[in-house]
Amino acid sequence: MIKPDAVESGHIGAILEKITAAGFKIVAMKYTQLSLRDAQAFYEVHKERPFFGELTSFMSRGPIVAAILEKDNAVEDFRALIGATNPADAAEGTIRKLYAKNVGENAVHGSDSDENAAIEGAFHFSGREVF
Ligand code: CMP
Repeated sequence: MIKPDAVESGHIGAILEKITAAGFKIVAMKYTQLSLRDAQAFYEVHKERPFFGELTSFMSRGPIVAAILEKDNAVEDFRALIGATNPADAAEGTIRKLYAKNVGENAVHGSDSDENAAIEGAFHFSGREVF
């Protein structure tokens, strides 16, 4: 996902350019907005964290871009491309270093495993939206 902060700041195009330039194939994509309930369901794994309320209100405050990406070693390579969760710790040239504001408003989300990528892809897309 390209998160609401990066959408608000006008970085959709630049972020998609970095993703495709790094060799990822976009197999599904949509411009959409999560309801608070959607965000709570998507991030359910974090529901006991102190930042859960902040995270879910942020993620539902405006539109996002959701996408499914394909590449060999996609999970690991995408996490390298986006950089550390906290942009203060992210490597130079990474998407979060370039475009994220702070650990909460950190521009993009990437799945942390192939299993979660399948779950998160199915959260956003039906079978006929994936190519
Ligand atoms: P993401 O990769 O989408 O997965 C969980 C999100 O929780 C993470 O990116 C951050 O946006 C958010 N997050 C993680 N740690 C904190 C924190 N300490 N304070 C606020 N938000 C956080």
